[in-house]
Amino acid sequence: MKDNGFVRILVVDDDPAIQKVLRIGLGNAGYEPVICRNGRECLSALEEKGHGIKTIVLDIRMPDITGLDLLPKIKKMDPLTPVIMLTAFADLETGLAAMKSQAFDYVVKPVRLIHLTAVIEKALYHRSILEENERLNRKNEEYRLALERKVEERTAELQQAYVKLRQTNLETVRVLAETIEAKDQYTRGHCQRVRLMSAKIALKLGYKTQEIRTLEYAALLHDIGKIGIPELLLHKDSSLTEEERSIFQMHPKIGETILSTVEFFQPCLDPVRQHHEHYDGSGYPDGLTGEKIDPLAKIIVVADAFDAMTSTRPYRNAMPLEVSLKELNRCRGSHFDPEIVDVLTRYRLFDGII
Ligand SMILES: [Fe+2]
Repeated sequence: MKDNGFVRILVVDDDPAIQKVLRIGLGNAGYEPVICRNGRECLSALEEKGHGIKTIVLDIRMPDITGLDLLPKIKKMDPLTPVIMLTAFADLETGLAAMKSQAFDYVVKPVRLIHLTAVIEKALYHRSILEENERLNRKNEEYRLALERKVEERTAELQQAYVKLRQTNLETVRVLAETIEAKDQYTRGHCQRVRLMSAKIALKLGYKTQEIRTLEYAALLHDIGKIGIPELLLHKDSSLTEEERSIFQMHPKIGETILSTVEFFQPCLDPVRQHHEHYDGSGYPDGLTGEKIDPLAKIIVVADAFDAMTSTRPYRNAMPLEVSLKELNRCRGSHFDPEIVDVLTRYRLFDGII
């Protein structure tokens, strides 16, 4: 683009007299007129010098292609540039029609230079507003894109921080659960195995990620209430008396009370309180049945019982896997939710855990 400080005006007219008048007149008025004798020249001038042309003065009546036919082509190539139509007095109707179809204004021949330059100035002002609008829109768009990128970056950072935090949280809770287990050599690793098995069952049953996370915490901490049960009673190698049993059976409620003091563990309260409830209502502490039992608790019940069967306890040796599976199926529908037993056994979700 040539830039000599002049404003370039494209004049399209087949009349040599008008070409001459406008070349001299617009030149004297401080513009840089580019004269085209027909539509073809106009289109190629736009292609060559399109960026530098600020306004177009277009004759309506021309032999090859009329100004009215040319107008949409010009607008397609350069929508910002205002087009002023030149029309003979007899063509006034056509001039008005042109205005309706995208022309900026029209000037009636014979052209009075002072009138034409006034219209050109108005067109240039109009164009400057459009350009400014476009600049602002572009800037807005750039800003929006930059903001979107920033939000995406921050979201990814937060996501990473969240994953790290969750990992740390889970580790802390696992250590806490293992500290409780350390009191009892027979239950070492039990909570971690219950957590892994429960998560696998929930995943198979189509639980959402957030629910599985709650389940993992609840499974790790299901026996945290044992802190409040005398050790002698926990390690007793013979059957418990009636009174001892009722003390032992307080551990789910104690666990719920401990966890209720921490906001983060609120979703774990029901699963922890209900991890000894039985499907048929024969469990404790509330004797809940079937659908009244928290769904996560029902998973923990099965994983907890199955891991207990396959581990050595003070009062008995570990049961062989096949015997444990038989026992699990025997209590299917009474102690345990049948669907959970089926998923655990059908897909052998305990493989690699117990
Ligand atoms: Fe328990």
